[in-house]
Amino acid sequence: MNERRSTNVVWHSGDVTRSERGKLTGQQGVTLWFTGLSGSGKSTIAVALERVLLARGKLSYRLDGDNVRLGINKNLGFSAADRSENNRRIGEICKLFVDASVIALASFISPYTADRDAVRALHRDAGFSFVEVFVDCTLEAAEQRDPKGLYKRARNGEIKNFTGIDDPYEAPEQPDIHLHSDQMSVDEEVDIITRYLEQHTFISA
Ligand code: ADX
Repeated sequence: MNERRSTNVVWHSGDVTRSERGKLTGQQGVTLWFTGLSGSGKSTIAVALERVLLARGKLSYRLDGDNVRLGINKNLGFSAADRSENNRRIGEICKLFVDASVIALASFISPYTADRDAVRALHRDAGFSFVEVFVDCTLEAAEQRDPKGLYKRARNGEIKNFTGIDDPYEAPEQPDIHLHSDQMSVDEEVDIITRYLEQHTFISA
């Protein structure tokens, strides 16, 4: 699906550089990519983090699986190929945010290691920073929470190819940040991430 179909296109550079944009906004862009089961808490953590970053004078912007699938990716379903294309497009959108000097908070199940690695590579090739955040939660805990009632429907057979039920989730082996969302509070998780951002000088302490 993601083969190149547009030919004879050439990158058109601007006059204002990324570093000039960074000086203007007083921050540098970075992508925080939250991966984990549905109901693991990815979006909840991103919402809380966005608020904390704002209070610290840093602009971030959330890209969320459900929201993006209501708009730009509404033509994609949940086959492996569609999930891959979903993640690829979001990876490209994250790059635009990073280039614009914004902290991109992307919350997507992104169940396949190859797709997450492809997004990391997209960033690396552009010289952009990418932080993989594994929101680790047992299937039991996610299913117990079932905030949207989707696990119940997947168990009934009403929803097919549901991650963790009849579709795989490949856990990251070496995430940059590993959160155990079934054992930590949202505040603790946000603290761990902000400390990471400080230590890696994305934000000042
Ligand atoms: S991804 O696998 O392509 O990264 P994404 O994060 O965009 O998934 O979307 C997942 C959201 O779609 C879930 O939080 C859930 O609300 C909804 N959803 C609907 N059907 C499925 C399904 N079959 N598997 C997983 N999530 C689903």
